[in-house]
Amino acid sequence: MSVTILAIESSCDETAAAVCKDGLILSNIIASQSVHEKYGGVVPELASRAHMQNIVPVVDQAIKDADIHLSEINAIAFTQAPGLIGSLLVGTQFAKSLSLSLQVPLIGVHHMQAHVLANLIPTNRPSFPFLCLTVSGGHTQIVLAKSALELEVIGETIDDAAGEAFDKTAKLLGLPYPGGPLIDQYAQIGDPLKFKFAEPQIPELNFSFSGLKTSVLYFLQKQTPEFILENRNDLCASIQYTIVQILLKKLIKAVNQTNVKQVCIAGGVSANSGLRNGLKSLGEKKGWQVYIPDFSYCTDNAAMIAITGYHKYLNNQFVPLSVNPSARAEW
Ligand code: KG4
Ligand code: ZN
Repeated sequence: MSVTILAIESSCDETAAAVCKDGLILSNIIASQSVHEKYGGVVPELASRAHMQNIVPVVDQAIKDADIHLSEINAIAFTQAPGLIGSLLVGTQFAKSLSLSLQVPLIGVHHMQAHVLANLIPTNRPSFPFLCLTVSGGHTQIVLAKSALELEVIGETIDDAAGEAFDKTAKLLGLPYPGGPLIDQYAQIGDPLKFKFAEPQIPELNFSFSGLKTSVLYFLQKQTPEFILENRNDLCASIQYTIVQILLKKLIKAVNQTNVKQVCIAGGVSANSGLRNGLKSLGEKKGWQVYIPDFSYCTDNAAMIAITGYHKYLNNQFVPLSVNPSARAEW
């Protein structure tokens, strides 16, 4: 019997829906919310309202693009945690209503598990076990994936996430939110070795990024606005280089500790060209098998919720209609 999952993602500022049939993504729709740009960060209340406006057209489009009838849907998967509670509520309530009206089961998905399993979407995918560096706006983790449903966090940040490091240093440079993609863009024509910023010495497989932010802040406080503007590309390249080095050094340590040589990346920051290229060359040098998802599967999307929902469906992992979303990140 074939299995068709309709998935909904609404944990932060993207309203997304996707359809997956037997593990193949048939559609993947995202409505991004530009309303937050002028505030320099996501405003939770505005995010919930925008989800309310976007969710019906986004789900409609996902069903149309997949060219399926509602009666073909076997289950509704939705992001249950973590995220902004008001945003999660919109997706959860919508998923519950659909599940009730179509009389199909509900599957609650952990957003961070879904980022990791985005690596199972392409046909060229890792086998188990594999390591995944998950780097987003809220999380930085190294995950050992033993199976689709057995994921172990073996390292994580003790303060800021890698995406926050990009966004906060971008803000110090006067760039708009979210600054990560802009740092990436300017870094491509800058010198990554021009400025040196502190790399933290954190034990085990854990990360820290708050020191980098402070070191960039102290450096910029001593410079004139003209200097910062003239050196913007080199500053961006040097900041990006430092963040990528911190991430890749811990990945080397994780491979050495686990002896798992299939390495993936996931999350919004895995769209970063410095990280993608750095990981590719490191993999070639070390003889690792490296898997890097398409850009569309790196940042928040519902295809990753659909593929996770598919694996949970195969293992009968459903949630009742009385389920509540949770803002917290526990697995
Ligand atoms: O996974 P994601 O879309 O949402 C969360 O779950 O947080 O990640 C968003 C983060 C933001 O911090 C954004 O600046 C960062 O991913 N990001 C990037 C790039 N594209 C997105 N950071 C660096 N370079 C990029 N190209
Ligand atoms: Zn995310």
